[in-house]
Amino acid sequence: MFNVEHIRQDFPILNRQVNGKPLVYFDNAATSQTPQQVIDVIVDYYSNYNANIHRGVHSLSQEATDAYEQARLKIQKHFNAKHAHEIIYTSGTTHGINLIANGFSTLLKKGDEIIVSALEHHSNIVPWQMLCERSGATLKVIPMNLEGELIMSEYDKLLSENTKLVFVNHISNALGTINPIKYIIDEAHKVGAAVLIDGAQSCPHIKPDVQALDVDFYVVSAHKMCGPTGEGMLYGKEEWLNKLPPYQGGGEMIAEVSFEKTTYADLPHKFEAGTPNICGGIAFGAAIDYMNGIGFDAIAAYEHELLEYATIKLSEIEGLKIYGTSKHKTSVISFNLDGIHPYDVGTILDKLGIAVRTGHHCAQPIMDFYKIPGTVRASFAFYNTKEEIDALVSGVKKAKMMLS
Ligand code: ALA
Repeated sequence: MFNVEHIRQDFPILNRQVNGKPLVYFDNAATSQTPQQVIDVIVDYYSNYNANIHRGVHSLSQEATDAYEQARLKIQKHFNAKHAHEIIYTSGTTHGINLIANGFSTLLKKGDEIIVSALEHHSNIVPWQMLCERSGATLKVIPMNLEGELIMSEYDKLLSENTKLVFVNHISNALGTINPIKYIIDEAHKVGAAVLIDGAQSCPHIKPDVQALDVDFYVVSAHKMCGPTGEGMLYGKEEWLNKLPPYQGGGEMIAEVSFEKTTYADLPHKFEAGTPNICGGIAFGAAIDYMNGIGFDAIAAYEHELLEYATIKLSEIEGLKIYGTSKHKTSVISFNLDGIHPYDVGTILDKLGIAVRTGHHCAQPIMDFYKIPGTVRASFAFYNTKEEIDALVSGVKKAKMMLS
């Protein structure tokens, strides 16, 4: 049974005060909080078996290697990849996207087209613009509507035999919209294009099945799902990962090195140059265990309740406008108070111990679409409560009173 009070006891940070008030943490889309179970794994690693991996014959190195590779298996199982070597450890979603963008530089030519969406985070725009500059390919954009949804009839029109790659986020970080990625993947495949899905915002809410989706690449960050920062994974279909060149050169990613010629290691090591974030990988595995222990169905149902409750309560405030009103949403509410800058609202909320993100949320094209400088964004996790939402609502009312 899902018991939020019980779950909250796993998160030591939720007991602290900020500016003399109990912390209300509503910046989960930026980073999630870390349960004691994951903190313990990090402390255990550095206290008991910190060593470099895949290199030493000594016991510590073997223990660390085993734990790191066990975590890879957990990640494989969680995302239902066919092979463990299709899971590449990265430093996070941005690293995964850049790895693919770099690899495709060698495969694209002038006249090829890349499709992204109007709902992307800058990390799923800028690497593709850089790729276009290098390769001569052209960037096309799936437009959005006022509800913050992608317009699929426009996507259909953009697809052609020139389309080589499609990149879309599973869930918008700025608005919370859940995109129809199965349709996007299937239609892209009909014209022979590969698809990368940015799962940074979906991984805390949904358990994606990369084989059922038939997606070519899927990228996530561990810190969005109760794991540490500086850690993430890139899933790639084996055939694509074999086709793409390595991203970084260095130790670990080689088979043989001489001054005449170097050959590369097999997957996944071909893409894992240098000493990785070993503890981060192990802790990522622990975070996946933790979240599965609660269960993604229970998490999704509870967060939906929070979203509905907060949407109703915030909508009652006169002059408050919510951006992103799709029926297909996760627990993110982006809003503004009429005539008041989001930064000012965020500052007052912080004084009340309430953490929200303000600004363009690394998604400036979305803000340009709505002709606003930014929003206040409250993003909820499974450890938040309706009482905390009440505190947010009363904080927003106070901010309105002070700033009007
Ligand atoms: N991408 C993160 C966010 O949406 C940092 O806040």
